[in-house]
Amino acid sequence: MQIVRTVAALREAVAAFRAAGETVALVPTMGALHAGHMALIAEGRLRASRVVASIFVNPKQFGPNEDLSRYPRREARDAEMLEEAGCALLWAPSVEEMYPDGFATNVSVTGVSGGLDGESRPGHFDGVATVVTKLFNQVRPDIALFGEKDFQQLAVIRRFVRDLDLGLEIIGVPTQREDDGLALSSRNAYLTPEDRAKARALPRALGEAADALRGGATVTEALEAATKRILDGGFDSVDYVSLCDAETLQPVDSLPISGRLLAAARIGGTRLIDNLAI
Ligand code: PAF
Repeated sequence: MQIVRTVAALREAVAAFRAAGETVALVPTMGALHAGHMALIAEGRLRASRVVASIFVNPKQFGPNEDLSRYPRREARDAEMLEEAGCALLWAPSVEEMYPDGFATNVSVTGVSGGLDGESRPGHFDGVATVVTKLFNQVRPDIALFGEKDFQQLAVIRRFVRDLDLGLEIIGVPTQREDDGLALSSRNAYLTPEDRAKARALPRALGEAADALRGGATVTEALEAATKRILDGGFDSVDYVSLCDAETLQPVDSLPISGRLLAAARIGGTRLIDNLAI
């Protein structure tokens, strides 16, 4: 697997794929790879003849009080995992390569990025939309794959790809989970063993809320019960538990045709998110 660190080297490598008639899938990541990322690479390999992965811990999507400096960085191990998974190319730019001096552009998506994490993490989705737009322009893939664990991020990306006529296909890949239901996330590495054991309360609360809704509970009853379950399970606070339309992510107060239950909660200084289809 080739590793490239400049836009010029990336363009040359992708041009060689194109000259050989290959199709290209992009899997954008911030590294600290786990089985969830590997599922994206595997799906990419099924859908395109070459998979390009990017590793870039994007400063623009971290707020001033967030975990940019302590975000796990393990490029050598990540590169081994990618190579083993059959990834053809790793794009691993520096911050200076991605955002050269004078960089002044911001991609901002209204509506779908407004609530939920958009409210708890102001500016986060501008940072995501800006870097993902750049990654798409740098690699120019046929398809790009993202995990459904970051469901709002996926909805924001689908929105700007449509709005800006970017002409690539966005594939959402189902969340990979531990045996007890906890969604795989690079941030799980922050959890102490004690908090890790408690963290299962989050997927359990969502599962129970989904069952309650399907069984006829009102949205208010189901969301309040889920919030209580998360707190009783050992979380310190709940940012939100919400039932939304799966495309617009606008909150709904009765069961929509296609809905998504989403939650974010904090435990021992770590913020975890999860979601379920309804
Ligand atoms: O999901 C992530 O890892 C990041 O938000 C992404 C999409 C790579 C953009 O930095």
